[in-house]
Amino acid sequence: MQELPTSLQGGRSHYCGSLNLELVGQRVRLAGWVHRRRDHGGLIFLDLRDRSGIVQVVFSPEESGEAFRQAERVRNEYVLWVTGEVRRRPAGTANPNLATGEVEVYADALQILNPSRTPPFLVGEPREVDEAVRLRYRYLDLRHPEMQRNLMVRHRIVKAVRDFLDRKGFWEIETPMLTRSTPEGARDYLVPSRLHPGSFYALPQSPQLFKQLLMVAGFDRYFQIARCFRDEDLRADRQPEFTQIDLELSFTTGEEIRALVEEMMAEVCRTALGFAPPRPFHVLTWREAMSRYGTDRPDLRFGLELGDASAAVAESEFQVFRQAVAGGGKVLGLAVPGGAALPRRELDELTALSQEFGARGLAWLALGEEGPRGPSAKFLRPTEVEGIRAALGGKPGDLLLLVADRWEVAASVLGRLRLELGRRLQLIPPDQYRFCWIVDFPLLEYDQEEKRWVAVHHPFTAPREEDLPLLESDPGSVRSQAYDLVLNGVELGGGSIRIHRRELQEKVFAALGIPPEEAREKFGFLLEALEYGAPPHGGVAFGLDRLVMLLVGCDSIREVIAFPKTQSATCLLTGAPAPVAEKQLRELHLRPAP
Ligand code: AMO
Ligand code: AMP
Repeated sequence: MQELPTSLQGGRSHYCGSLNLELVGQRVRLAGWVHRRRDHGGLIFLDLRDRSGIVQVVFSPEESGEAFRQAERVRNEYVLWVTGEVRRRPAGTANPNLATGEVEVYADALQILNPSRTPPFLVGEPREVDEAVRLRYRYLDLRHPEMQRNLMVRHRIVKAVRDFLDRKGFWEIETPMLTRSTPEGARDYLVPSRLHPGSFYALPQSPQLFKQLLMVAGFDRYFQIARCFRDEDLRADRQPEFTQIDLELSFTTGEEIRALVEEMMAEVCRTALGFAPPRPFHVLTWREAMSRYGTDRPDLRFGLELGDASAAVAESEFQVFRQAVAGGGKVLGLAVPGGAALPRRELDELTALSQEFGARGLAWLALGEEGPRGPSAKFLRPTEVEGIRAALGGKPGDLLLLVADRWEVAASVLGRLRLELGRRLQLIPPDQYRFCWIVDFPLLEYDQEEKRWVAVHHPFTAPREEDLPLLESDPGSVRSQAYDLVLNGVELGGGSIRIHRRELQEKVFAALGIPPEEAREKFGFLLEALEYGAPPHGGVAFGLDRLVMLLVGCDSIREVIAFPKTQSATCLLTGAPAPVAEKQLRELHLRPAP
């Protein structure tokens, strides 16, 4: 074992990534992992890595003595103590790609703290490794500087949120994990009770009801970095357990909450990442967002907006268009700049895509120099073509894409085509952050499959006062006091002013087709609390994972969660979920399904 100089014993003097020319001549003691090892004409070079970065350590047989012989034994990912002197690298050998590239450490002592098996992938190489392997060896994957950075930024974001909300008078209050079901629209994760045979806790889909009860309790301003659980189909931006920045305030308005959140997001961007997003955040009504972008989470980084050509083609000889309009539907479209030159193959692809997105067909019109081209061109009068062009804002050389269908269907198909075209035509500028609020959502939407009204947000969202009379006569046209925050086409968060009177809450349950007995059974505690001086209140919750994902520029929230689950909700590292012993099942009064 190598004797270490007493002056530096027991601790490290510097982080690897902090070494620079100012430290030349100083003795330092570093700890870290072997990133790479190279033997060069009698010298051994180790790139030593810790959380802060990488520095080159040099061992020579003359100067390093015993340490040189130790260095011959180390391999990638061995963990070491190294002591030595910081020197300027010889002329011509500086590495501009490395923050510490102008210096190196001339080692005189090395201690191997632990060897490493040959890792299944090289830490720090471009991430071409299968994600399953990364997740299986997550502790190695997390050594990757990019992953370390992602989690560092996540920490900073949470810190900025806590500091901001603390300054604004919010108290962080924890709410239970073992609780009753909260309807956020997903399936619950259930936990069987040992003490109460046949009864189950539900893991919270959000702290929604507890935060409302905290308002009834008079806490005035609450927040929580809250873990939520939802058993739903997973995607790149959905995990079965995820984290919300959750807040609730009393005696407030939607405008106040949005202003507060805008300030918070701006501060988070500034303190955690050092940039200022454009303000004020854009505000769009739900209807406007659907009409212009075909989605309630528009990506405002590029144009390519939708237009309504219905009026221009209502009398057309082209049956597809005329019938759609006559049937109460719409003919919507968009103009692709310069798209008239797109090859036939791509047009066929776009048609197939729009069918995948739910359209019955896609009509295209290329505004070429010799006049409009396209399968429907021969059915359209010149005035109609001109009307369509004007409605979609097309120019000569553009391609017009049209979908005739129910308004919602046509809009959403074109909204998805818009995104696809934005990507293909590289219309989306990188490094831009365009936040926007969506307001005036409908309170309810009709579930075509289940044949009943469901809450667009959740059943505790307050309707707009002036729309209250419509709740029974025309539920679909009642607007809510809800708002969503969207960033670059991703739904970051949503919230609302809540119902704070029992009778209105019961009316909304009734509109949702929840019978009074069921409402009392499931939410009796809330209904009761509303009768004990519940203050008017409202709040919002953000997906922390999604926020971090967007701010670090990743395309999956798995990149910003230390130990995420796979698309099929498994943990490849621990092997969860796993079978349990029969004894445990018996204790929980469970029997395996036959
Ligand atoms: P909502 O259900 O819209 O609202 O959730 C708020 C935000 O949480 C994020 N999110 C998710 N992130 C990762 N994986 C998931 N499976 C997942 N599900 C949701 C999204 C979403 O915008 N209680 C209400 C909020 C309120 O009314 O105050 C709620 O939970 O970014
Ligand atoms: P069809 O009458 O099905 O042969 O379609 C004639 C043209 O209209 C084809 O180019 C179809 O892609 C297009 N088309 C069919 N249905 C629709 C629709 N609902 N919206 C837009 N275009 C459509």
